[in-house]
Amino acid sequence: MRTTYMRSFEPASVENLFDTVAPSYDRLNDILSFGLHRFWKRKLLTFLNPIPGEHWLDLCCGTGDMTFSLARRVTPGGTALGIDSAIQPLVIAKKRAAAKPFLPISWIKGDALDTGLPSDYYDGAVIAYGLRNLASPSKGLAELYRVIKSGGKAGILDFNKPCYNSLSYRFQKFYLRVLVVPIASKFGLHDHYAYIEESLKRFPAGKDLAKIADQVGFKRISYLTIAFGQMGILLVEK
Ligand SMILES: C[S@@+](CC[C@H](N)C(=O)[O-])C[C@H]1O[C@@H](n2cnc3c(N)ncnc32)[C@H](O)[C@@H]1O
Repeated sequence: MRTTYMRSFEPASVENLFDTVAPSYDRLNDILSFGLHRFWKRKLLTFLNPIPGEHWLDLCCGTGDMTFSLARRVTPGGTALGIDSAIQPLVIAKKRAAAKPFLPISWIKGDALDTGLPSDYYDGAVIAYGLRNLASPSKGLAELYRVIKSGGKAGILDFNKPCYNSLSYRFQKFYLRVLVVPIASKFGLHDHYAYIEESLKRFPAGKDLAKIADQVGFKRISYLTIAFGQMGILLVEK
């Protein structure tokens, strides 16, 4: 019988899931999104516009895609810090970074809900496909708010949660069930990717994320959908 992975969303289970997925993560991302995740991540940074000299944070950095892009944009004079709670994605991120020693990057194994970083320090922060995995998305946004400075910007990229039974909703179910999970199964990761649909059930819809951001204290809040409503970007300022 197949074990059902990750119903609890406990930090230890999340960590274990991403440690297991890590060796296949980048390849599967390319296959499952037809390479489009790069374009969506670039789009997020186009909105946020990090500039040379700034200090940016990438929470739930995984294997570091966003951290590398941030580091390129803030050079010279700036820094990019990637944080992830799972060790294996960080091992891969660090290997990738070794081939780019000129980039101002550092990595920390840590919890996005309690980073231990100084308050009011960062010019900006991003979370790509990470907020949905946190035990509390609102605590994640509150931590983001704490660490960025006044006037600082943050952006969250994740799956959008389309209206129930809309065309986008039905497409998303189809995409996750008929494409994502069967392909991931070939990598021995059936339950790990079935988890995406589970995680979406408890993830706030865009307008609710915007409300949470408002309660946390953020200003200039906007939420937009991309990829025909499949992905969403939350943009905020402190
Ligand atoms: C789907 S991956 C996204 C990785 C990367 N941001 C990207 O877009 O390719 C989610 C990442 O969030 C990390 N994560 C989950 N919960 C976390 C937490 N509480 N603190 C820090 N990282 C966490 C996981 O270990 C995983 O690497």
